[in-house]
Amino acid sequence: MLSRVFLALSFAVASLATSLLTDLPPFNSSLFKDLNVTRGLTYHYYASPADAGKPTLVFLHGFPSSFYDWRHQVSFFQDKGYGLVVPDMLGYGGTAKPLDPEAYAPSLISKDIIDILDAEGLQQSVLIGHDWGAKIASRLANYFPQYFSSYAFLAGYTGPDSFALPYPEQNNLSRAVLGYETFGYWDFFSSEGADQIILANLNSLFDIFFLKDTVLTIKDFAPLGALGDFIRNGRRVTPGDFVTPEERAIEVELLRQTGLAAPLNWYKILTTSIESDDDQGIPSENAVLNQPVFFGTALRDYVGIAATFIAALLQDSKDTLTIQQYDSGHWVMLEVKDKVNSDLLQWIEGLKLDVEF
Ligand SMILES: *[C@@H]1O[C@H](CO)[C@@H](O)[C@H](O)[C@H]1NC(C)=O
Ligand SMILES: *[C@@H]1O[C@H](CO)[C@@H](O)[C@H](O)[C@H]1NC(C)=O
Ligand SMILES: *[C@@H]1O[C@H](CO)[C@@H](O)[C@H](O)[C@H]1NC(C)=O
Repeated sequence: MLSRVFLALSFAVASLATSLLTDLPPFNSSLFKDLNVTRGLTYHYYASPADAGKPTLVFLHGFPSSFYDWRHQVSFFQDKGYGLVVPDMLGYGGTAKPLDPEAYAPSLISKDIIDILDAEGLQQSVLIGHDWGAKIASRLANYFPQYFSSYAFLAGYTGPDSFALPYPEQNNLSRAVLGYETFGYWDFFSSEGADQIILANLNSLFDIFFLKDTVLTIKDFAPLGALGDFIRNGRRVTPGDFVTPEERAIEVELLRQTGLAAPLNWYKILTTSIESDDDQGIPSENAVLNQPVFFGTALRDYVGIAATFIAALLQDSKDTLTIQQYDSGHWVMLEVKDKVNSDLLQWIEGLKLDVEF
């Protein structure tokens, strides 16, 4: 009897997990795939084929998310016949969740994405990234520029030398310039046991990530020590209305099932030398961007500062650079979704891409 109850329960949990990975409109549940990439890790991704003459758009999400971050873009571009590839990045959702930080070196993750594009037979995609997805988009531009016609970076861009300064010095520099450590929260995210503390306080994490008044991040999120205190104490703040309660419940449940131990490796590589060592391998001839670039800035993002990214892109971008400034916090593709969608569409149409068959 007991074992039958247990079986029924585990079945319920398993089917919930599956539905969270494939059954989320506007994603078409029959278009999800799983690929064992060259290094033996499985990637879960959404692949919607392009109509004749339309390019494929590749969307890369950041922390602490999944393919579901791109729901508004998928519904908008899918209806217009664009091809779409939207993976769960390493450590998230239905993709592998290795616990060794070394597995998260950007050169390795970039190759994983290329394995997906090869499996899909895609050679000239438009690459779009947000947050750490924009970092991987930056590295794909550095390592595999032949695969992309153009790049759109949203609320993030990571030039080849971005992590040349060791983390403690980076903190001191941002404190000297801005009055607070913009990346002080990496210290908590890379600390022992942070995954369990966050898991026990997921509502605090989502409140502060999907915040309404982003000025609060200057005190409660960014500086050294602040986020650890905020989460540990289970503090709550008012979230913005750009994530509905239903969408938030999905995101919370996804992360609860994923856990934080794997996703936090995206930070552990930054407070150790894993990322800076890995970035030494960027070919110098690819350190600049020789294709058109779109940058969507979040003017009310006080952690990833728009002016910093713009300065780097003005230096690195050698083809056309299109900058759109949004009165938004970090989550531009959610918070100003209609504007981001129409700006991206106009930019993509203006590229006059030759799609060959
Ligand atoms: C989902 O994709 C399948 C396979 O391409 C297609 O047959 C089906 O019509 C799609 N469903 C919707 C609702 O678009
Ligand atoms: C993925 O491929 C590797 C070999 O590259 C193999 O050892 C491993 O069992 C495969 N994993 C799955 C889940 O198929
Ligand atoms: C950063 O600043 C603190 C406080 O001024 C100082 O004690 C520390 O040595 C500095 N660290 C580095 C790496 O410069």
